[in-house]
Amino acid sequence: MAAGRLSFRNMTALAPMVRVGTLPMRLLALDYGADVVYCEELIDIKMAQCQRIVNDVLETVDFVAPDERVMFRTCEREKDRVIFQMGTADPERALKVAQLVEKDVAAIDVNMGCPKEYSTKGGMGAALLSDPDKIEDILKKLVKGVSVPVTCKIRILPSLEETVSLVQRIEKTGVTAVAVHGRFKDERPRHPVHCDYIQAVAQAVSIPVIANGGSLDLVKNNSDIEKFRKVTGASSVMLARAAMWNPSVFSSQGTLPVEKVMKEYIKYAIRYDNHAFNTKYCLCQMLRDKVESPLGRQVQAAQTNAEISEAYGLQKFYQEIQEQLQAKKDALHSSNQPDRPIMDGDLMTMAVKFERRDYPPQITPKMFLLEWSRKEKLEQPQYETVQRSQDRAFQSTVTVANRKYRSSLWEKSKKFAEQASAIVCLRVLGVPEGRIGEENSGLVCKRKREGKPKCSSEEGRSKKLHIDILQETETPKPTLGMNGDEQNTAKPLKQAEALREAPFS
Ligand SMILES: Cc1cc2nc3c(=O)[nH]c(=O)nc-3n(C[C@H](O)[C@H](O)[C@H](O)COP(=O)(O)O)c2cc1C
Repeated sequence: MAAGRLSFRNMTALAPMVRVGTLPMRLLALDYGADVVYCEELIDIKMAQCQRIVNDVLETVDFVAPDERVMFRTCEREKDRVIFQMGTADPERALKVAQLVEKDVAAIDVNMGCPKEYSTKGGMGAALLSDPDKIEDILKKLVKGVSVPVTCKIRILPSLEETVSLVQRIEKTGVTAVAVHGRFKDERPRHPVHCDYIQAVAQAVSIPVIANGGSLDLVKNNSDIEKFRKVTGASSVMLARAAMWNPSVFSSQGTLPVEKVMKEYIKYAIRYDNHAFNTKYCLCQMLRDKVESPLGRQVQAAQTNAEISEAYGLQKFYQEIQEQLQAKKDALHSSNQPDRPIMDGDLMTMAVKFERRDYPPQITPKMFLLEWSRKEKLEQPQYETVQRSQDRAFQSTVTVANRKYRSSLWEKSKKFAEQASAIVCLRVLGVPEGRIGEENSGLVCKRKREGKPKCSSEEGRSKKLHIDILQETETPKPTLGMNGDEQNTAKPLKQAEALREAPFS
């Protein structure tokens, strides 16, 4: 199939499937011969809060929620093939999400077939089928507002006439294609698919119709795909369960043993750092009745992709990929150093994020900045934090010696935002910030130096850790909590805390 704007004719598609249609499965389906691949349905409210982040290590584009969960991960390989399916009942929000992802995907699809309560009670999924005005509003808005094709996926209505007339209305919105799952809203996957309905729709409209619903009884292997297309008179075919059980069903060379396919799936899961629980879920679908076999039990017990790799004898592959990714991370880190600060009046900004794992447990940049300010006999750093409404992320500005320092990146919590601003200040000033591996960081945990074991968190809460400053200082030493934040023990600190608690704008 030539790259370019998708026509949706003569295609086989991996159907949208929650939890199944993540990046590893989509890439595998493409490898085996699927022409297009739908992502799992992603809900507009969640997607609208996401930030688009280019992941240079994995070479992916990630859409990341404020709680740091990757909601949608995609890559160049599938850019002309991946269809972003969303759950929505709101034209404005649908457009916002579509515009967020449009340059990374080949088309936008709206789910109008999900009969599950979590979808329908919000007016999404199959609930839309009884609100054709809303369908029109959403689709017209999308068609007008994005540059990629817009499609939708429906279930059939109680009568042939109603189904045909709905699809004719849908056609008029300007969508490029419509996928028809040939089951009624209240039918379950075990019910036979109504090919006659799909056929009637295909005859009644001129846009391509994508036939869906044939996995259970009609499509067992690759040659059945064409039979299903013919019997429905559709332009294309979309497979869900048949592909979930064995994605090599897309291969014209014949279906491969699922054991081999699972290994290929795991390789993609490792390469793209797929969440282990998601990897497990997909493997369990492929294992089907073997899910209680010794291998199945090993998969179910695994908590990480490393453990899953072991179950399939892929430890070496796992190790190699980890090394490659780490080497890339290191190379990127060193080529990005030092980040260039940008000066705007008395404000210095840098793109910096606070990564807790980069610092020893009891050490934070804020602590280093406080100590440095004391040593320099400056006023204590003052933090002002704001929270933006769209994703509730935080950004902090720290003032030191009448200059302001801020990270241009927003953080998930107020604490992290303050730490990020402290890092900017320390880096601009060329002062150590306490990062692991940093030379002459100048601070050491007294407990560690005296060789005492790490205290438990319970103990920590009652005793508080004491940090010794190795550098000469006349100022009193701060007392630190387990998270490394300064406690309100000294009076000036209390003032600083009060400033930090200023209401968010
Ligand atoms: C695990 C699973 C998850 C699904 N998630 C979605 C989804 O996110 N969006 C959607 O439109 N349909 C979803 N479906 C429905 C399928 O896309 C498809 O319409 C249905 O399974 C019938 O096709 P089949 O006979 O090829 O399985 C899901 C189906 C399965 C089995």
